[in-house]
Amino acid sequence: MTQTVLSTAPAPMTAPLSQTFLAALKAALPGIATPVGLHEPVFTGNERAYVQQCLDSGWVSYNGAFGLKFEEMLTDLTGAGACAAVVSGTVAIEMALRVIGVQAGDEVLSPSLTFVATNNAIAHVGAMPHFIDSEIRSLGVDVAKLADYLDDIAELTPDGPRNRLTGRRLAAILPMHCFGHPVDMDALLAVAERWRLPVIEDAAESLGSTYRGRPCGSLAPIACLSFNGNKVVTTGGGGAILTRDPVLGQRLRFLTSTAKTPHPFEFIHEEIGWNYRLPNLNAALGCAMLETLPERLSAKRALQARYEAAFAGTNRFAMLREPDYAKSNYWLMAAVLAPEDAGERDTILKATHGAGYMCRALWRLNHTLPMFSASPRMPLNVAEAIQPRIINIPSAPQLFNPKSA
Ligand SMILES: Cc1ncc(COP(=O)(O)O)c(C=O)c1O
Repeated sequence: MTQTVLSTAPAPMTAPLSQTFLAALKAALPGIATPVGLHEPVFTGNERAYVQQCLDSGWVSYNGAFGLKFEEMLTDLTGAGACAAVVSGTVAIEMALRVIGVQAGDEVLSPSLTFVATNNAIAHVGAMPHFIDSEIRSLGVDVAKLADYLDDIAELTPDGPRNRLTGRRLAAILPMHCFGHPVDMDALLAVAERWRLPVIEDAAESLGSTYRGRPCGSLAPIACLSFNGNKVVTTGGGGAILTRDPVLGQRLRFLTSTAKTPHPFEFIHEEIGWNYRLPNLNAALGCAMLETLPERLSAKRALQARYEAAFAGTNRFAMLREPDYAKSNYWLMAAVLAPEDAGERDTILKATHGAGYMCRALWRLNHTLPMFSASPRMPLNVAEAIQPRIINIPSAPQLFNPKSA
C-alpha cells in the first residue's frame, strides 16, 4: 500500500467509533464518488455483444448455444465433471438435495450463519435444517464442534445416520463458504465420511475461491453456485449445480428441463420435472462475465489489501481475512468489530449509510427466523457472538482505482 492511501489517516481514537470507521472507509476508497453500493455489477467485456447475438438469432430461451457454453466454462473453471445451469442458486440447492434423495421429514445439517436461501432450499424439499455452529476464522462450519456434537446426538443405522433425539434421518450436510472464504473441507469431509453423510457445497458465494489449491465447487461430490446480481459473475439471476458425476449431471439437466425426453416433434414426459433451466439470454451474460473473472478477482484482492491498510490504525475493528489454507474470492469484504463494540454496529451502519456507503449488517441467524424456530440445533454460541460484530463493506472490483495506488 502506498502513501496515498495511508496519508488519509483514520480519525484519532477519541472520535466516536462510527466516525473512525467512516474515516477508514473513506481512506480506502479515494476518489470514489458516493453513493457506493455494496456490490454492484460491472460489465467490461463481451456482455453487450453476446446478449445482442441472442436477440439477433431469436434464441433467448432454453437450450441455446450460450447455455451449453456457460456450463462448459463452469466445468472448466472448477474442474467439476458436469454442470446444470438453472434459474437461481436457491433452486440449484433444492435440486441438489432432491437428486441425492433428501426427502420430506429428513434433517439436513446446515449453518444458521448463512443467507436464508440455504435453509429455504432445505424447506422446499420438505426437510428441515438442523442448525450447526460456525467459527470465526472462516465464518463457516466449526468442524471440530460438529464432530463432537454428532458423537453426542447421532447414531448410524442401516439407512444411514439418524438423530437419536428426534428419530429423523440426517440426510446431508450443507457447508457454506461464507463471503467466499472456504470451509475447512478436508476436515469436514472426514467427519461426513465417518457418518456416511452426503455433502453438498453451498458455493453460491465462492466462485473463484480455492481451498488448498482446489476450486470451490469441486470440493464435494455436488455443489451449487449463484449468479444473482451481486455475485462475482452474474447472469441477472441464475445458479448452477456442479457434480463430479456426469450421469448425475445429465439427470439434473433432464429434471430441470421439465423432464422432457428429447423427440423431434412429440412432447414426452414420464416423470415430474421442473422448469428451472437457465435461459440462453442469461447464459450469454454469464459467458462474458466468466471471461473477465480473473481481472475482477485481482481487483477485489487489491481492494481488500487497501482496506486492510486503512483499517490497521485501530484495534477496535479489523478486516476478516481468508483462512491460511485458502485463497478467497473476497466476494463480500467484512470488518469485524472488537467484541466489546458489538453494540455500536447499528450506529456505525447509520453513519456509513448517511455518508453514502451502503454497508450492511450480517444476515440474521437463521435459527432466529420465525419459519425455522422449531428446527433442531446445536448450541450456536459462536455464531451468536459473531453475528453482531460483522459489517459488510463495499466490495465491488470497480471500487479499486489503480490510479490512486
Ligand atoms: C449462501 C447462499 N446460498 C444460496 C444463495 C441463493 O442464490 P440465489 O439468490 O441465486 O437464489 C445465495 C445468494 O444469494 C447465497 O449467498
